[in-house]
Amino acid sequence: MRVAMLTGGGDCPGLNAVMRAVARKGERTYGDELIGFLDGWKGVLERRTVPMGVERMRGTLPRGGTVLGSSRTNPYKEEGGSAAVQATLADLEIDALIAIGGEDTLGVANRLADEGVAVVGVPKTIDNDLSGTDLTFGFDTAVQICVDAIDRLHTTAESHDRVMVVEVMGRHAGHIAAWAGIAGGATITLIPEEPFDVEAVCDAIRRRHTEGKRLASIVVVSEGATPKEGSMELQSGELDAFGHVRLGGIGGRLAEQIEARTGYETRVTTLGHVQRGGTPTAFDRVLATRFGIAAIDAVHDGAWGTMVALQGGSVVRVPLSVAVGELKLVDPELYDVARVFFE
Ligand code: F6P
Repeated sequence: MRVAMLTGGGDCPGLNAVMRAVARKGERTYGDELIGFLDGWKGVLERRTVPMGVERMRGTLPRGGTVLGSSRTNPYKEEGGSAAVQATLADLEIDALIAIGGEDTLGVANRLADEGVAVVGVPKTIDNDLSGTDLTFGFDTAVQICVDAIDRLHTTAESHDRVMVVEVMGRHAGHIAAWAGIAGGATITLIPEEPFDVEAVCDAIRRRHTEGKRLASIVVVSEGATPKEGSMELQSGELDAFGHVRLGGIGGRLAEQIEARTGYETRVTTLGHVQRGGTPTAFDRVLATRFGIAAIDAVHDGAWGTMVALQGGSVVRVPLSVAVGELKLVDPELYDVARVFFE
């Protein structure tokens, strides 16, 4: 078969590992020809392709990012976009497409599958907020980067008896914050699922600092967390082609409020795209490799409109519609675990 791949949306450590696995099993086991579209759906619309066989993918297992490039282009926002995608696939004689992406990229894949396109999805996002799969690759790497940073912030915060606010990614769901907060020993962790009370955050910090010891406080906050009473101004940024606002800034505003209300010196660290860069952890390399193998197997089973997923330790197939139907939020039980350690 002639099988194409693309990576869409925000990049993520492990994307290359997925494509390396697709190339290996596709070429060596099935005798496929593998090609890649550059820059997500944009490359499909513009018909920009590269060969993606075993030789191209050599040495890419530990590399972050995506050798194909990515974009947030939504073909359904372009005039005649879906027809143009289908025309590209027909004209280039592509038998199947493997779309590797998050809710937006897979949302497009789902609509195309409904229109009869031979497409299989692979879930990707550091945010880990896709339904139908217990985990997405890239998440473990992002959490580890956050925890490394928090460990370092603990020591400098203790030296100066400061409050450190650490802003992490997580637009709609606080998986990264919840895991990093628990693993990093945060004083308090704020996630989008639970709007927070600024004064309660300050009280927790006051309790900790009035214990008489030099106890630094670490506040982990998701970029998408919001204050309960609406007392803090929220950033309104540009929208992308999928209608998402560009976030980033809650950490700074929260730090200002904490310092003003408690009088404790407060600093902010916004980890931003550092969380998406660099080499994937061993766990993410293995998960990505398993997803890649499962995706090319799904292609050869003609399992169109499905996404490979991790459920209870096994790699399974779920309908793409399940994956993009609604976001997977933080399990309240996990947040309760984090809460036990709040001051
Ligand atoms: O969806 C993944 C993600 O990393 C979010 O956590 C974050 O809000 C967004 O992408 C950032 O997007 P961009 O790279 O376009 O700034």
